Amino acid sequence: MRSYISINVIIIIFIHVNILITPFLTYHVQGFDSIIRLPYSGSTRTRPKTKQVLSITDFGAKGDGFHNDTQAFLEAWKVACSFSGFTKVIFPYGKTFLVHPIDIAGPCRSKVTLRISGTIVAPRDPEVWHDLNKRKWLYFHGVNHLSVDGGGKIDGMGQDWWSRSCKHNYTNPCKPAPTAVTFHRCKNLKVRNLMLINSQKMHMAFTSCRRVVASHLRVLAPASSPNTDGIHISATTGVVISRSVIRTGDDCISIVRNSSRIWIRNISCGPGHGISIGSLGKSNAWEKIHNVKVDGAYLYNTDNGVRIKTWQGGSGFASNITFKNILMENVSNPIIIDQYYCDSRDPCKNQTLAVQVGNISFINIEGTSATEETIKFACSDTSPCEGLYLENIFLPSYFGGDTRSYCWQAHGSAKGYVYPPACFSNSSDFIRQNVLLESNPAINSV
Ligand SMILES: *[C@@H]1O[C@H](CO)[C@@H](O)[C@H](O)[C@H]1NC(C)=O
Ligand SMILES: *[C@@H]1O[C@H](CO)[C@@H](O)[C@H](O)[C@H]1NC(C)=O
Ligand SMILES: *[C@@H]1O[C@H](CO)[C@@H](O)[C@H](O)[C@H]1NC(C)=O
Ligand SMILES: *[C@@H]1O[C@H](CO)[C@@H](O)[C@H](O)[C@H]1NC(C)=O
Ligand SMILES: *[C@@H]1O[C@H](CO)[C@@H](O)[C@H](O)[C@H]1NC(C)=O
Ligand SMILES: *[C@@H]1O[C@H](CO)[C@@H](O)[C@H](O)[C@H]1NC(C)=O
Ligand SMILES: *[C@@H]1O[C@H](CO)[C@@H](O)[C@H](O)[C@H]1NC(C)=O
Ligand SMILES: *[C@@H]1O[C@H](CO)[C@@H](O)[C@H](O)[C@H]1NC(C)=O
Ligand SMILES: *[C@@H]1O[C@H](CO)[C@@H](O)[C@H](O)[C@H]1NC(C)=O
Repeated sequence: MRSYISINVIIIIFIHVNILITPFLTYHVQGFDSIIRLPYSGSTRTRPKTKQVLSITDFGAKGDGFHNDTQAFLEAWKVACSFSGFTKVIFPYGKTFLVHPIDIAGPCRSKVTLRISGTIVAPRDPEVWHDLNKRKWLYFHGVNHLSVDGGGKIDGMGQDWWSRSCKHNYTNPCKPAPTAVTFHRCKNLKVRNLMLINSQKMHMAFTSCRRVVASHLRVLAPASSPNTDGIHISATTGVVISRSVIRTGDDCISIVRNSSRIWIRNISCGPGHGISIGSLGKSNAWEKIHNVKVDGAYLYNTDNGVRIKTWQGGSGFASNITFKNILMENVSNPIIIDQYYCDSRDPCKNQTLAVQVGNISFINIEGTSATEETIKFACSDTSPCEGLYLENIFLPSYFGGDTRSYCWQAHGSAKGYVYPPACFSNSSDFIRQNVLLESNPAINSV
């Protein structure tokens, strides 16, 4: 039965995915190029008057990795933000800037670009946060038209945070840890061509933002590092994430809290926990996630593939979500909807309310599964999943042997070749297929 699908299909997808990844081979070259072309300090002779270029080193930053360069960053920002027109702040290549927890606030008169070609590092010692908000390190808020790029690196130095984590050692108390880079209430944000490594907790979060484009990112942390999500999207509308490689200890990309119009394409994940919508509905929260499209992803050795998870007792909905053109290799739980999600140490009590899950499509998903149960739809008794759709799925076992689907209160339809076979309840009324966001980048219509 399995020989029905030609191995060529997989190879073609594999080559395709390799093509997606090759831009990263030239990653450093790009980063290097950009710095060669740019002056290191405020020369604006060849530029229009409205374009200012500042270097953080002109504001007293040493860039030696020891000196506290936080004040220099703040002062450079203050100046850049108050100009009119376009402003660039350069973090020169080859230097390492030690930056303490910092609040970078808008609004600005100018459109600012932070060109990070060198490295920004966090203080290693969690005690530095003693009197400060432990959830923040580089915190940007209320900025419109901010761009961050430059081919450089942002290093959270998270090792000491990880060893204190309660996920790492159950005898530790559960305490907050910083998200390395947070953008809060930012609009028209561009983040590209950067490397983020070893964050204290999540690497990058977009919270309450609108119109975000993130591309050519490399996000790296050990598989064992706790809660080091790659990119976290919360209460945000209009996001495009593309051409990025994310290998961390937790979700590759997670989407929560009233977010919509999210378009993810050409990304590579793993190790980590895969692409996750949710968890939604924790502590009886009302949440809606809609219009999400993941098109073109390679997942390797992840603990989940594409996942929607909701807590019992929540409400709202997760709908109009498409996962397509995905290649998986040795992925546990490749396709999973779990309306009984519970990550507390005690079992969660059964509740009747649920976040409604509907109109979810899985199209062209191939590769190998590390678990026997490769498709799992565990839906709510009181609010069954509706309008699930499977098309061209081929997920045999990585280790050989058969794989299977699990359905509970799952209604939907299938088309094309589907292995393991779909197990939907027989109800013809939910045969729906959704077409969304086709050739309509999330950004246009926000
Ligand atoms: C993915 O990247 C490839 C090569 O760079 C490009 O041809 C293709 O159009 C991209 N696909 C999507 C969905 O962006
Ligand atoms: C580093 O500089 C910032 C900004 O001036 C200051 O708030 C912080 O206390 C300094 N940290 C140390 C450890 O000196
Ligand atoms: C966990 O933490 C406790 C107390 O801090 C320590 O004694 C123990 O060795 C740690 N265990 C591991 C596996 O790190
Ligand atoms: C989502 O938005 C609704 C209002 O539209 C609000 O009531 C709810 O609290 C929001 N949920 C979260 C988790 O922010
Ligand atoms: C989902 O898509 C359908 C059909 O395209 C549309 O009618 C519906 O309004 C969408 N729902 C949401 C919440 O976006
Ligand atoms: C495949 O996945 C399993 C389960 O996650 C893991 O134990 C194993 O090391 C992986 N195999 C390879 C070759 O990475
Ligand atoms: C919740 O319901 C399921 C299925 O009806 C049952 O197996 C489970 O024991 C219940 N859990 C609790 C905590 O009552
Ligand atoms: C699913 O899509 C149909 C139309 O295609 C729409 O009527 C229905 O409301 C959608 N369901 C959800 C939960 O968005
Ligand atoms: C599903 O239900 C329809 C009508 O009730 C019936 O004709 C069909 O044979 C059923 N299919 C399966 C697979 O049970």
